[in-house]
Amino acid sequence: MEIAGKSVLVTGGAGFIGSHLVDRLIAERPSRLVVVDNLFLGKRENLEEARRAYPDLRFYQEDVSRPQAMRRILEQEEIEIVFDLATVPLPASLRRPKWTSRSILEMALNLCELGRLGLYRTLIHCSSSEAYGSAQYVPMDEAHPLAVETPYAAAKAAADLIVRSYARTFGLDTVIVRPFNTYGPRQNERQYAGVIPIVIRRILSGLPPIIFGDGEQTRDYTFVTDIVAGIVAAARHEGARGRVINLATGEEVTINRLVQLICQAMGYEGRILHGPPRAADVRRHRADVTLARSLLGWVPAVSLEEGIARTVAWYRERMGART
Ligand SMILES: NC(=O)c1ccc[n+]([C@@H]2O[C@H](COP(=O)([O-])OP(=O)(O)OC[C@H]3O[C@@H](n4cnc5c(N)ncnc54)[C@H](O)[C@@H]3O)[C@@H](O)[C@H]2O)c1
Repeated sequence: MEIAGKSVLVTGGAGFIGSHLVDRLIAERPSRLVVVDNLFLGKRENLEEARRAYPDLRFYQEDVSRPQAMRRILEQEEIEIVFDLATVPLPASLRRPKWTSRSILEMALNLCELGRLGLYRTLIHCSSSEAYGSAQYVPMDEAHPLAVETPYAAAKAAADLIVRSYARTFGLDTVIVRPFNTYGPRQNERQYAGVIPIVIRRILSGLPPIIFGDGEQTRDYTFVTDIVAGIVAAARHEGARGRVINLATGEEVTINRLVQLICQAMGYEGRILHGPPRAADVRRHRADVTLARSLLGWVPAVSLEEGIARTVAWYRERMGART
C-alpha cells in the first residue's frame, strides 16, 4: 500500500514514538498528515522538527476515546490510514489501574468502531511486548501466550484482541505491530518515565542511578528510528494485513548492563544504588523477529551502543541547560 497521496492520522503523535513516526511519514509524501493527542504525556515541542519539514501538519488536542470528536476529525480530514499510538503508559497502571485500562480499551474500541462505520480505511495499531508477559520461551514469537503481568499489559493485550475481532468479524483492514522496548530522543523523562531517561536524568542532575530489583531482568531494546521504520514497512506491505508483527532487535540486555552502558556513555563512575523490585516487572524479554525480517525485509540499523550515545547526546543538549 502506498502512503504517498493518502490522508494519514497518527494518534499519540505528540508522544515519543508517535512524533518520530510523524517525522518518518513526511518522507512518504502523504497528501495530509494529522496528529491527535490529548497531551497527557505528549508535548507540542516533539512536533517542532516535523512542523519545520511539513508546515501543513495538523494538530488536534483531543481524546482518542471520544467518538463524536474523532468522527468529526476523520470526516473533516478525509482520513484513509490511522496509525494508532496513543496510550497511557505502564507505570500509570501501577497507580491508577482502572483508569489506565479503561483509557487504553476505549481508545481501541472507538477507533475500531469508527473503522467499522467506514470513517477511514486502514488501522495500523501499536501493541506492546508487555502483552506477552515474561518470556515462557525465547526468542518470543508472535504465538507466545499473552500471559500479562500488569493492568497496562492486560489492556494492551485486550486492545489487540479487539482490533483482531474487528478485522475478523467486520473485515476491518488492520495490522498490529508489537514493538519491544523502544528508546531514543523525546522519550518522556519525567512522570511515568522509563529506565533509560530516568538514569540519564539522574546522572545529569548529579544523582546516582537506581536499579530496581537485582538488575538481571532483560529487555530487547530497539532505537526509535528503527521502530518507526518497521511500523511504516508493516503499513506498506499488503502481506502484513490481519497479522501481528514483532518489532525488536532479537537481542536481550540485562538492566545492569544497560545502566553500565549509559554510565560509560556519560563518563559516570560513581555509585549505582539498588532499590526494591518493581511490582510485576517482566523478568525476561527477547523477541523472535523472523516474521518482520522475512515478510517486511525490516532489520534494525542502530546498535545499542550507538543508540545510547545518540540518546545521551540529546538529553544532554536539552537538559544540560536546566541542570
Ligand atoms: N516506549 C516503549 O518502549 C514502547 C514499547 C512497546 C510498545 N509501545 C507502544 O508504542 C505506542 C507509543 O508509546 P510511547 O512510548 O510513544 O508513549 P508516549 O506516552 O510517549 O505516547 C503516547 C501518547 O498518547 C497520548 N495519549 C494518551 N492518552 C490519550 C488519549 N486519551 N487521547 C489522545 N492521546 C492520548 C499521550 O499524550 C502521548 O503523547 C503505545 O501504543 C505503546 O503501548 C511503546
